[in-house]
Amino acid sequence: MDLLVLDKVNRRFGGLIALHDVSFTVVTGEIFGLIGPNGAGKTTLFNIITGVIEPSGGRLFFQGEDITTDRSYQLAQKGMARTFQNIRLFRELSVLENVMIGHHGRRQLTTRQVRESSLALLELFGLADRYHLPARHLAYGDQRRLEIARALALQPKLLLLDEPAAGMNPREKAELSQLIRDVRQRFNLTILLIEHHVPLVMSVCDRIGVLNFGELIALGAPEVVKEDPQVISAYLG
Ligand SMILES: Nc1ncnc2c1ncn2[C@@H]1O[C@H](COP(=O)(O)OP(=O)(O)O)[C@@H](O)[C@H]1O
Ligand SMILES: [Mg+2]
Repeated sequence: MDLLVLDKVNRRFGGLIALHDVSFTVVTGEIFGLIGPNGAGKTTLFNIITGVIEPSGGRLFFQGEDITTDRSYQLAQKGMARTFQNIRLFRELSVLENVMIGHHGRRQLTTRQVRESSLALLELFGLADRYHLPARHLAYGDQRRLEIARALALQPKLLLLDEPAAGMNPREKAELSQLIRDVRQRFNLTILLIEHHVPLVMSVCDRIGVLNFGELIALGAPEVVKEDPQVISAYLG
């Protein structure tokens, strides 16, 4: 089943065409990777999907419903959660409080249930022993994982990760691939992942779309995309 459908999505910033007729579908349960050189339009596309900015043209559908003009809070209620390329945690609040805040859309829960659910998420992400520390005391890779834990607190159907491996060391990157697979399984998620680190994308994604200068130049299984001449020249050229 199609969870997210993009139909000829366009976005201009003044005279700059950041996205041109981008169309693809994310299928329920898959891990879909979006790659492309810096400035290709990846974050712009994420911002459009999550309702931070509107497309200049084209339509988007989530669970069959037209979401083209939906705002972020509406999309969060409908089951989208994201992390940011530049980490956005409440730096002075504790690790636990950051995840508790992630539950804000789930009004039916008592404070005690929110706390328990948060601790369970922290356990899964290997952060439970530091629940009481201010978020800013965590190492960079741990802050990225905390952001994912917070996003999961919403119980999303679609989790969007913008460059989750940025700033991580090689060991953390390797662990991240496993973690992404684990959370997909455990939470029955569909994941849309933007990533600069190509080996991570190749190892974790079921399908990959490649953006270059705002256009989707390739789409398919990692083995196929990796051999695509246009993709090779976009990355090397
Ligand atoms: N708010 C904005 N105003 C003007 N130009 C923007 C804005 N956001 C992004 N751009 C431009 O759109 C293009 C795509 O940027 P971006 O989506 O951040 O690329 P990526 O995430 O793939 O590195 C770039 O040329 C960038 O400078
Ligand atoms: Mg970006």
